[in-house]
Amino acid sequence: MPFLCAALDRVKPSPTVAVTTLVAALKAEGRDIIGLGAGEPDFDTPENIKDAAKRAMDAGKTKYTALDGIAELKDAIARKFQRENGLTYARNQISVGSGGKHVLFNALMATLNPGDEVIIPAPYWVSYPDMVRLTGATPVIIEGAMENGFRITPAQLEAAITPNTKWFLFNSPSNPTGAAYTVAQIKGLTDVLMAQPHVHVMTDDMYEHLLYDGFEFATPAQVEPRLYDRTLTVNGVSKAYAMTGWRIGYAGGPEWLIKAMAKLQSQSTTNPCSISQWAAVEALDGPQDFLPERATHFRRRRDFVVAALDDCPGVTCPTPEGAFYVYPSIAGCIGKTSAGGAAIADDEAFVRALLEEQGVAVVFGVAFGLSPNFRISYATSDDNLAAACDRIRVFCEGLR
Ligand SMILES: Cc1ncc(COP(=O)(O)O)c(C=O)c1O
Repeated sequence: MPFLCAALDRVKPSPTVAVTTLVAALKAEGRDIIGLGAGEPDFDTPENIKDAAKRAMDAGKTKYTALDGIAELKDAIARKFQRENGLTYARNQISVGSGGKHVLFNALMATLNPGDEVIIPAPYWVSYPDMVRLTGATPVIIEGAMENGFRITPAQLEAAITPNTKWFLFNSPSNPTGAAYTVAQIKGLTDVLMAQPHVHVMTDDMYEHLLYDGFEFATPAQVEPRLYDRTLTVNGVSKAYAMTGWRIGYAGGPEWLIKAMAKLQSQSTTNPCSISQWAAVEALDGPQDFLPERATHFRRRRDFVVAALDDCPGVTCPTPEGAFYVYPSIAGCIGKTSAGGAAIADDEAFVRALLEEQGVAVVFGVAFGLSPNFRISYATSDDNLAAACDRIRVFCEGLR
């Protein structure tokens, strides 16, 4: 009898974490590697947030807290939802966990049984399908075509719904493509869901504050208020406030679901870090003016990377609306051989050869469910980006 549980056979380790680990290992060996795999801002956490954490420690806020978030943080989250999304959530409709990933995981674990289905648009964040598989439920993937800005259509959503569908998992702006949906595009999807009362919406709004060129953020329960009772609106402080290491994510949703998630949390992690919770209060209630400033930096980098990659032979790089990723197609490179002699049969081979021959680490498209592409995170310095894009161009020019 195997000692490890069967559920583990249904999932693979996160490929993005694997790339970050590989880059660290190669650098430790002395190799000159530029890592564009990590999905985290290169900016530091703002000083006012760090100060709030220091004050919390000094005030002895170092003990267990209320299970799924201190009242002060839940109130700050309620204010954020009201202010930025026009959504009203009471304390008992808010869950705080150890990162957005944890909150998504709790919600899926608390609701899914074997046989249930979760609709996930591809390209998707790597963790969604595997989290669903861990529960024994089935991910149902629908592809957002590159020609449609990587967005799915209402007809695709409608065709994917079955009596077993429990969740539609929505993510805009998206990791890995940076694609975002307009209000009208979201309305097209929510109209489909209005006719399907058994389907619930889990929306992952993690990149809400990273949108460019005046693109306006919208979230499903705001666009279609009649979906409020069956929507879980997930967000967090990791990306917007450069707080990936603090591990605070949160969600607003129906009380019955929040309660179920708390039950699960009570038998697993208990409360998220007390000090991080106080820091998150400051993040959400404190000054917000640095958000557009940082978005301006990211937009400049996006424009640079899109232009540089689009210039590489065999590469087509669409311009994303948000997040800090681009997801170029390498259809024009498939079937060729690299200068170092590697056969480029798919995006995994491309990424491996690029790392070996040019020392640039990116993540292959297969991991995100749409190929042949790769993902670059441009949340790194201008110098790194310029050097990486040069190396990618040299690599592509060497393909025969
Ligand atoms: C789309 C998306 N959702 C959720 C998360 C998880 O964020 P957190 O660090 O809060 O767990 C990430 C992080 O990469 C993400 O890209």
